[in-house]
Amino acid sequence: MSTHALLVLYGSQTGTAQDTAERIGRQAQRRWMRVRVEALDSYNVANLISESLVVFVCATTGQGDPPDNMMKFWRFLFRKSLPADSLCRLDSAVLGLGDSSYPKFNFVAKKLHKRLLLLGANMLLPVGLADDQHDLGLPPRYVFHFLDEVPDKQIEHLQTPDNKAPPTPLQPFPAGVVFNQRVTPPSHFQDVRHIEFDITGSNIHAGDVVMMRPCNAAEDVEQFCQLLKLGPERYFTLTPTDSSTVPAHLPQPCSVRFLVEQFLDISAVPRRSFFEVLTTFATNELELDKLLEFSSAQGQDALHSYCNRPRRTALEVLADFPHTAAELSIDCLLDLFPDIQPRSFSIASSLLQHPNRIQILVAVVKYKSMLFKPRKGLCSSWLASLDPSKGDVYVPLWVKEGSLIFPQDPDTPVIMVGPGTGVAPFRSAIQERAAQGKMANVLFFGCRSESKDLYFRSEWEEKVQAGQMILVTAFSRDQEEKIYVQHRVKEQSKLLWDLMAKKNAFFYIAGNAKQMPASVCDALKEVFQKEGGMSENQAQEMLDAMEKAKRFQSETWS
Ligand code: 2AM
Repeated sequence: MSTHALLVLYGSQTGTAQDTAERIGRQAQRRWMRVRVEALDSYNVANLISESLVVFVCATTGQGDPPDNMMKFWRFLFRKSLPADSLCRLDSAVLGLGDSSYPKFNFVAKKLHKRLLLLGANMLLPVGLADDQHDLGLPPRYVFHFLDEVPDKQIEHLQTPDNKAPPTPLQPFPAGVVFNQRVTPPSHFQDVRHIEFDITGSNIHAGDVVMMRPCNAAEDVEQFCQLLKLGPERYFTLTPTDSSTVPAHLPQPCSVRFLVEQFLDISAVPRRSFFEVLTTFATNELELDKLLEFSSAQGQDALHSYCNRPRRTALEVLADFPHTAAELSIDCLLDLFPDIQPRSFSIASSLLQHPNRIQILVAVVKYKSMLFKPRKGLCSSWLASLDPSKGDVYVPLWVKEGSLIFPQDPDTPVIMVGPGTGVAPFRSAIQERAAQGKMANVLFFGCRSESKDLYFRSEWEEKVQAGQMILVTAFSRDQEEKIYVQHRVKEQSKLLWDLMAKKNAFFYIAGNAKQMPASVCDALKEVFQKEGGMSENQAQEMLDAMEKAKRFQSETWS
């Protein structure tokens, strides 16, 4: 058993500080500390010099005065005769309970904290300023005002696009989903989608990357609203409580459904601060205990095992703490949940070959953890769920430039290595270049099996036939030993050396396999050594020089 001793001293006018002090005491007892909880004036203040750890919980009355049951202590502590280092053995912290609607908010706690510092105490934490206006927790950044009626103007509906300018994050273009095809057979472990958007009228003329914000699944929205006892059809407006502004992509007024479906990231793995906020609402003792543990420094291993390792979502955590979820104030939602961040996808098509269309290639993220339900990627699962055969489906989107730059000169060859969905930017480049009559395109494509994930097979065959590209494939699982794109790069050393050393070819890598880019670089250096008679150093120098001249580029993601 630990011998740590904690003294909790309170100054309470109406009983709230006493209650809070006792709660802190109970929590400490559960952590095997020896605890005493006392009103300040019943404590012999002269003993303070021999204490090692004291938490003060002090209310401030309306006029900024200390509560009656700490007046004696207060007068003693502010005696001028007290030596400056009289509390130098004391570790301490002050929690103030106040009301921010009064001008001298938490005056006593602030003054006490300063005085303890002056007397040499080691203050373990900044002074805690709990606020009666906010259930004595940290004030939320926004206050919600519910409307009595549904507003006439349905501002949440897709806005008419401004055709004069390309779409932006704040004015995305509502692109219709034309098709959403699975391109791997159902027997294959990986669901990969080829999705096409109609951007007619969008004023998008170029772009390499398409951006969009995914939505939470309808059943998650339902469950969230049930847990928090929120009516999804109610409308509200927001007022910031500090200098924050209302998030620009949150319409005003907004429905609860829109907020939960399109704004709050309820499927991310929550952080420690999430649990800290929950503690301020918890009234159920069991839940509070657990939440306090997860919020504490000592509870971080337990929190990691509970949350991060199994990739538990914030929604699943709320379902584990149903009493607390039901107590949550809607005002705290924007403090509890981050907003859903936009996701980016390499555009896999060219506007020259597919006018008014943007196509992407998306691997649907789904994996097992220790939890029963499989983990799902928010954006890829949402995209996979969009079904244009059941009616019009729109995805608000905008586009960005990518990092890959292709040569202007029509005779400069390009060599592209893009296994898996890494092929997306290269399909776009090959389509664009072929349409411009740029025929010198070499694609190294790697996948598991010729019959399962060789995406766009017939399209490649047509382009090979038409003399618009050379395709080199590496099927990793169609034979005993692994064959990867880097093996094919080495095998094609003569072709590659010819293109790079004699025809100034550009070389590109894209994809998400962790080791792949480094292995392809190594293969390339071997090509330089073998065909160019270079030393290892010289090969590295050649690669560095190509990179500097933008003739070697890579775009990788995880
Ligand atoms: P694997 O799954 O059989 O290991 C697209 O994902 C292709 O990239 C798959 O054929 C995959 O093979 C392959 N791949 C995985 N790791 C790789 C690596 N380090 N280098 C090159 N290709 C890799």
